[in-house]
Amino acid sequence: MIFGRVKPLDAILATAEKKSLKRTLGGFQLMLFGIGCIIGTGIFVLTAAGAQKAGPGLMLAFAIAGLVCIFAALCYAEVAAMIPVAGSAYTYSYASVGEFFAWTVGWALILEYAVAASAVSVGWSGYFAGLLAQYLDIHLPAALAAAPLALGGEAGGVINLPAVIIALLVTWLLVVGTSESAKVNAILVAIKVTALTAFVALTLTSGDFDAANFNPFLPAGVFGGIGTGLGAVGAAATIFFAYVGFDAVSTAAEETKNPQRNVPFGLIGSLLFCTVFYVLVAAGAIGTIGGQPIMGPGGIPFPAGSEELARQCAMPEYAARLVCSDEALAHVLREIGFSTIGNLVGVAATIALPSVILVLIFAQTRIFFVMSRDGLLPARLSKIHPKYRTPHVITVITGIGVAVAAAFLPVGLLADYANAGTLYAFFMVGVAIMVLRRKDPHRKRSFRLPGVWIVAPLTLIGCAFLYVNLPTIAILVLPVWGLIGLLVYFGYSRSRSHLGRGVIEVVDDVGGAETTVPIDPPPAS
Ligand code: ALA
Repeated sequence: MIFGRVKPLDAILATAEKKSLKRTLGGFQLMLFGIGCIIGTGIFVLTAAGAQKAGPGLMLAFAIAGLVCIFAALCYAEVAAMIPVAGSAYTYSYASVGEFFAWTVGWALILEYAVAASAVSVGWSGYFAGLLAQYLDIHLPAALAAAPLALGGEAGGVINLPAVIIALLVTWLLVVGTSESAKVNAILVAIKVTALTAFVALTLTSGDFDAANFNPFLPAGVFGGIGTGLGAVGAAATIFFAYVGFDAVSTAAEETKNPQRNVPFGLIGSLLFCTVFYVLVAAGAIGTIGGQPIMGPGGIPFPAGSEELARQCAMPEYAARLVCSDEALAHVLREIGFSTIGNLVGVAATIALPSVILVLIFAQTRIFFVMSRDGLLPARLSKIHPKYRTPHVITVITGIGVAVAAAFLPVGLLADYANAGTLYAFFMVGVAIMVLRRKDPHRKRSFRLPGVWIVAPLTLIGCAFLYVNLPTIAILVLPVWGLIGLLVYFGYSRSRSHLGRGVIEVVDDVGGAETTVPIDPPPAS
């Protein structure tokens, strides 16, 4: 039976007991951690692509995407507090709907983490190139700072070198064992929040702010049509990326004091905080320099990241538009006369975005690590470096993958691909919470989601809804990527699965001593 291999929750929880991490995190610290992972390329860069899809309706898009994430976060809160071990959605699926779906989730998480890391690297590159131009008058040629594989090819792009360099640099930091301390995280959060606060304060009070800029509010409508990626919901599907990362909070459930109160507080608090900020940032950007899309034939916006749009943006009358900028927030401030502060916002993004890349690559390596420990990926991958005590093999492989994707693809496309995988993972967490309520109703849940039978179905509906509103190419990425994953699963992983062979390892700490627990093998397949 393909679906018969479900990992026993008792064995998974034995891991948590063995680790027994100290419960030190409070609700506010958890919220800071969440904000540190969330604020990144989404708001600093994709604001431009979002405006090209929805115009001022971008504000509505931020609210829609935030709402779907809050539903998903509530589901994460219960499952994470109940199964507080590494592996996130992959592990929850293994314990609820079994190995087959867990594999598909683990495979999709490569899109959520590795591809998202590529997207943030490309976003960073835009800000870095902007700073080089502003402070040193060095203008990187498109051949070295743009993607060749945009929809139809970005103007003159060959390789995005800064994006490659930052991805490899962060990988190296991870190999030598850098992890972000709570203190560094708090400083970076302060930098990002200060930059966004300055942006909101200056734009909303600026003399350039003009309510007429919000008219028409929905130039591409609410629904742009399935697969077009346009309209407020199309923009929501893209800028959903701006919220990705909150699930990292769920991985800290085991280290949280009073998780019943603090895990949902951290998850929901960080998301609400970011949602409010994002809507205000969008209002400030659009209210001052306008955010109407550049329309193509038939009054339909040119696709964000397309060659046609790049060509339009090269024309002097469009060059200063919000939708044309690679460093949207810095650009807006420069346009309304705050060049120095605009440059400082650029500096803030340049300093803070690498930490988002670090968290994403770190999360990816831990997912691979757990999958390899489960026997679904080769054991060689989870080898620990003798000196640095880090899973260096998988970290280097992940880093190279991230760098290659960042070298050749534009940020909007990468973010849409990442979103497709993330939406699938969130969907499966919505499934997992319901399955576990049915299968294991009496197990202790340190956070029990009230109204689960409403919130979980809303999560499924919200994720499916955003997914079908992605551009067609991103919609297709998930099944195509999934198909490759199934070939690997049936060609390699299924026959080597430790669970399939009747053994479970119960330590998931990197470098921790391993204990193997024989269990009753599942029914023969
Ligand atoms: N939410 C993160 C970002 O926007 C991934 O960069």
